[in-house]
Amino acid sequence: MSILIKNGRVITSTEDRMVDVYAEGETITRIEEDIDPSTLPDETEVIDARNRYVFPGFIDPHVHIHLPFMGTNAIDDHESATRAALVGGTTSIIEMICPGPDDEPAAAYKEWKDLARAGACCDWSFHLAVVRFDELAQQQVRDLVEHHGVRSFKIFLAYKGALDISDRNLFRLMQLAKELDIVITAHCENAEAVDSMQQALLAENKSGPEWHEPSRPRSVEVDGVNHLCTFAELTGARIYIVHTSCGDAVARAMAARAAGVDVIVESVVPHLVLDNSWAERGEFEGAKYVMSPPLRDPEEHDRLWEAIEARHVATIGTDHAPFNFKGQKDMGRDAFTKIPNGIPSIQERIDLVHTYGVCAGRIDLHTMVNSCSTEAARTFGMYPRKGEIAVGSDADLVIYDPSHESPFCEADGLSQVDYCGYEGMERRGRAEVVTLRGKVVARAGQYVGDEAGGREIQRNFSSRTQS
Ligand code: URP
Ligand code: ZN
Ligand code: ZN
Repeated sequence: MSILIKNGRVITSTEDRMVDVYAEGETITRIEEDIDPSTLPDETEVIDARNRYVFPGFIDPHVHIHLPFMGTNAIDDHESATRAALVGGTTSIIEMICPGPDDEPAAAYKEWKDLARAGACCDWSFHLAVVRFDELAQQQVRDLVEHHGVRSFKIFLAYKGALDISDRNLFRLMQLAKELDIVITAHCENAEAVDSMQQALLAENKSGPEWHEPSRPRSVEVDGVNHLCTFAELTGARIYIVHTSCGDAVARAMAARAAGVDVIVESVVPHLVLDNSWAERGEFEGAKYVMSPPLRDPEEHDRLWEAIEARHVATIGTDHAPFNFKGQKDMGRDAFTKIPNGIPSIQERIDLVHTYGVCAGRIDLHTMVNSCSTEAARTFGMYPRKGEIAVGSDADLVIYDPSHESPFCEADGLSQVDYCGYEGMERRGRAEVVTLRGKVVARAGQYVGDEAGGREIQRNFSSRTQS
């Protein structure tokens, strides 16, 4: 099977060219001006990309699908979440494996991997959350890296008593990460401060979703970033700070980088386009907008977009964590601390970045590709197979129509969640055709691929710095 993308404007993190792209089987084999279809095998599918951008398949480095959390489970399965991803132009995801404090890492890894194998339609990999680090867990974590392809860990400084890790264990894990050349991805908020502030607010009968942000202000996040950077300085471990919500946290990470810490910063789309006023919506609707770190003041949008343009924020993910409004978010009607945290975004991410980043003049197209694809591929050992349009790369391609206009709406969503976090917001642009390793899997908002056609991504650190 082969595919020819003709007449498109091919945009990567560094290049902008009018060239045709030809893939034989799963791989890009030719990139040339004006490839003549009559010279190609008869079964070649020719896609006319006139007036369209051709992007490398986008990568979401921060996704939750199977997520037992806050007394419930996230509502998507691998099939629904990855179909939604593909329709939105995301061809690869990295999901967080989040076991509970009593679960063994090896069993958790198997549980998540079996689910992804059985259901995922896009390509996939994992960050392994390390919640316990006793002797058995240490052995298993090492074995998962050395023999099973785990290439990044996740730690939570937040969620006291559920997912958080002690300082002693964090330090030892970071030493191990340094030894094994593994990236530590981290949720940075001071768990003790959050817990104390939550209790104080509830004691004053401040129980609605609008109190979620005041319970974990920016200083709590900056403190978490500072703490992680200190441990990174001491251990030499490479760190990746997830879902950074405010300019001060980015600035703290950049100060650490200037002092020699190997730190990479991620932001996620809810923090770029939504603000804390959404969590104040009446009829408890604000609960839809409870995530951690919380949505901030609208001024933070500018600070984050500027940091993306400056490449201080390297990647844009989603932190897709879908909980229904009815039956899940409303578990927290009497206390915001019981609202399952998360905002679904896996399908909307690329169109949000295009609309509110590129069309708004905040970032250019190269920065969009870099932050939504190429930089994740480099950081997590997938480049240049993913995140690039080059001979030899996987034929993961997004033929994108920048002139499409239609508002975001729940009815278009392939996720199983019962609301769209961006309902009614302006959308400019849409993935018209999406290919995964040379096969068309989505057309104009519809999934047209195989069942469970995704594959585990083989990650290799030696590719990290290649360009
Ligand atoms: O609110 C969030 N972010 N929910 C998912 C879990 C996490 O912290 O990433
Ligand atoms: Zn988190
Ligand atoms: Zn997350």
